[in-house]
Amino acid sequence: MKQLGGTPQTVPIEGLDPIAKGAGAAVEIAGRAVAAAKGPLHAIRGTGEQEKMLKNAKSEYADEHEEIATYTAIETLAETLGDTQTAKLARAIRREEQSMASFLERQIPVLTKAVVQAEIPPAQRRKATTRARPKRAATNKAKAKRTPAKR
Ligand SMILES: [Fe+2]
Repeated sequence: MKQLGGTPQTVPIEGLDPIAKGAGAAVEIAGRAVAAAKGPLHAIRGTGEQEKMLKNAKSEYADEHEEIATYTAIETLAETLGDTQTAKLARAIRREEQSMASFLERQIPVLTKAVVQAEIPPAQRRKATTRARPKRAATNKAKAKRTPAKR
């Protein structure tokens, strides 16, 4: 693809010389071949629904952070101008956006595991016990720290 020059997505086919047109067509065909190759896989292992959910969660996660940035700016602006009511409202909304972002952050590993479950044959997956052990120990430690001493 690099040998053809430029990224395939940015190559306009119309109005270019025949050689460039040929390159564009080749890129298009290559793209179709990839799509065709992906098709049967999805037919066998499901519709890629889990992957779509993961992609959505990732872009929603990014969106929430853009919103957090916006409300942080509004909050700061309002504070600077002495508009305490607007600052208070912006702060409240920002906090909601942050809790949504942290919810999504927790969903991403869950959804990723669902993609693995749906798309990767069991033989290619790592055995659950190999990673679960150190993780479980860490969780217990974290729990012990959080739990206040009993009286
Ligand atoms: Fe939001």
